[in-house]
Amino acid sequence: METATPKKVIFSAVQPSGTITLGNYLGAIKNWVTMQDDYRCIFALADLHTITVRQDPAAFRRHSLEAYALFLACGIDPKKNPFFLQSQVHTHAELAWILNCYTQFGELSRMTQFKDKSAKHADNINAGLFTYPSLMAADILLYQSDLVPVGADQKQHLELARNIAERFNGAYSPTFTVPEPYIPKVGAKIMSLQEPTRKMSKSDENANSYIAVLDKPDDILRKFKRAITDSEARVHFAPEKEGVNNLMGIYSSITGLTNEQIEVEFEGKGYGDFKVRVAEAVIEELRPVQERYSQLISDKEYLEQCYTEGAQQALSISIRTLNKVMKKIGFLPKKF
Ligand code: TRP
Repeated sequence: METATPKKVIFSAVQPSGTITLGNYLGAIKNWVTMQDDYRCIFALADLHTITVRQDPAAFRRHSLEAYALFLACGIDPKKNPFFLQSQVHTHAELAWILNCYTQFGELSRMTQFKDKSAKHADNINAGLFTYPSLMAADILLYQSDLVPVGADQKQHLELARNIAERFNGAYSPTFTVPEPYIPKVGAKIMSLQEPTRKMSKSDENANSYIAVLDKPDDILRKFKRAITDSEARVHFAPEKEGVNNLMGIYSSITGLTNEQIEVEFEGKGYGDFKVRVAEAVIEELRPVQERYSQLISDKEYLEQCYTEGAQQALSISIRTLNKVMKKIGFLPKKF
C-alpha cells in the first residue's frame, strides 16, 4: 500500500497592527488561502511582536480581533489548520527566551530591521525590539516548519532562525527542522498608488496611497482615479511606467489576465477608463470579503471559539518541541 507523504508544514504570521491593505491581501493573504489545502499551514497573529512598539490597550485589543475576523473573511479556514494569537500559546514566549541564550548580541545587532526601527523609534529602543528575531525564530521552529513565506523585509530574520536551528541541532542532536524560504508561485508586489516606486503601506501618511481591504467602494474608486500614472496615456507595460505597471499588476492578480491581454483590452482607451475598470475589479473582489467581515465581527462568540481552538491545537503541537528542547538542555522534568 502506498503511504501518503505527509504535507509540508508552512508557518506564517503577521502583526495585527491596524489596517490590512490591498497589498497585504493580493501579496500575501490570498496565497495563504490557496496554500491551505496543499500544506499543513500554521498561521498566527504575531501580537507579542506588536508590543515592541507601544500600543494603546483598547485599540490593540480591537485591532487584534478585527485582524482575526478579517483573515477569516478573506478565506482562512480555522477548521483546516490552526489559526491563533501568538500571545495565547505560551510556548512561544518560553522558547523565545531559550533561543535568546543561543543567539549572539552581534547577530541581533546586524539585523537591518532593528537598525531601521531603532532609528524610527529612538525614544523606545527596548530589548524586545532587539530580540524580536529570536521570538520569530521560536514561532517558526516550534512547529518544525519546513517552509516560511517571506518578503524581502523578513529574509534576514529567517536566515537567523536557520542559523539558530542549526546551532542548536549541532550542540545537542537534531531537534529542529531547518526552515527554507518559500517563494509563492503567484503573489503580486503592490506599490503605493501615489508613489509607485514604494511598497503599498498602511503606515503611509497619505491615505490615498493605499487601499484598505475594508475601504468603501466610493473611496476605492476615488483613490484609483487619483492614482499616479504618466503622461503617455497608453496602457502598456514598460519598466519606467511604474504607476501603470502597478495598476496592471493589481488588475492582473484579480482577473488572471496577462499584461498582453490587458493591453488589448484597453487599446485606444485612456487612463481614465482603465483606472475605473481596475477600481471596479477591486471593488468586486473585496465585496464578498467585506460582507463576510461584517457578519463575523458582530459574532464575537464565534471568533472567540475559533481562536481558542486554534490556540489549543497550536499548543498541543508546539509543546512537544518545547519539551524536547528543555530536556536536551538539562532542565529537570516537570512532575505536574
Ligand atoms: N515579523 C513579521 C512581520 O512583522 C511577523 C512574524 C512574526 C513572522 N513571526 C513570524 C513572519 C514568523 C514569519 C514567520 O511581518
